[in-house]
Amino acid sequence: MKFFLDTANVDEIKRINKLGLVDGVTTNPSIIAKEGRDFKEVITEICELIPGPVSAEVISLEADGMVKEARELVKWADNVVVKIPMTEAGLEAVNILSKEGIKTNVTLVFTVSQGLMAAKAGATYVSPFVGRLDDIGTDSISMIANLKKVLVDYGYDTEIIAASIRNLGHVELVAEVGADIATIPGSLFPKLWSHPLTDAGIEGFLKDWESFKK
Ligand code: E4P
Repeated sequence: MKFFLDTANVDEIKRINKLGLVDGVTTNPSIIAKEGRDFKEVITEICELIPGPVSAEVISLEADGMVKEARELVKWADNVVVKIPMTEAGLEAVNILSKEGIKTNVTLVFTVSQGLMAAKAGATYVSPFVGRLDDIGTDSISMIANLKKVLVDYGYDTEIIAASIRNLGHVELVAEVGADIATIPGSLFPKLWSHPLTDAGIEGFLKDWESFKK
């Protein structure tokens, strides 16, 4: 399974990348705004740090505008993936961009049919939102399992990025149902490798070691 970091914070990316855990990065306008830095500067810096795919989102709502923005974004670095919202205009843009060999990540996906439409239009990645589906009482994990089955059954290459991940359980469950990638906030990532019993165990071992030496 691949892990992306869902952040534009360069310090978080550097810290977790040291562990060999980061296959790519996803951003969105809210994530970029949090950093208070220039969009192009942040994306190019992240692209230099991480050789894998780095998603940068378009702002236009019209297909022409999305395509124009996408063509500009991919000039910034070879590993930029253009994030496109799941709308009719977005599908039109994805169809055009896929024919130009520009990689896309269709975002704000909440149903299997949306994911299937994105794959059919030529999306490289499709991003179903786990946490936001949970918030409205919809079973996000079954949705991802069903989307995965459909994409595999019909031979689409489109990869599923489980997005809007809020907790450790989300990561474990999307891994079990076959999401290709989970994109994880920087603040959540350390919880994936930590456990209070691990910490207590280390403390106990060191205490015993000290008393033995006396
Ligand atoms: C990533 O591609 C998404 O934009 C992000 O995971 C959304 O997360 P949120 O629902 O916590 O804002």
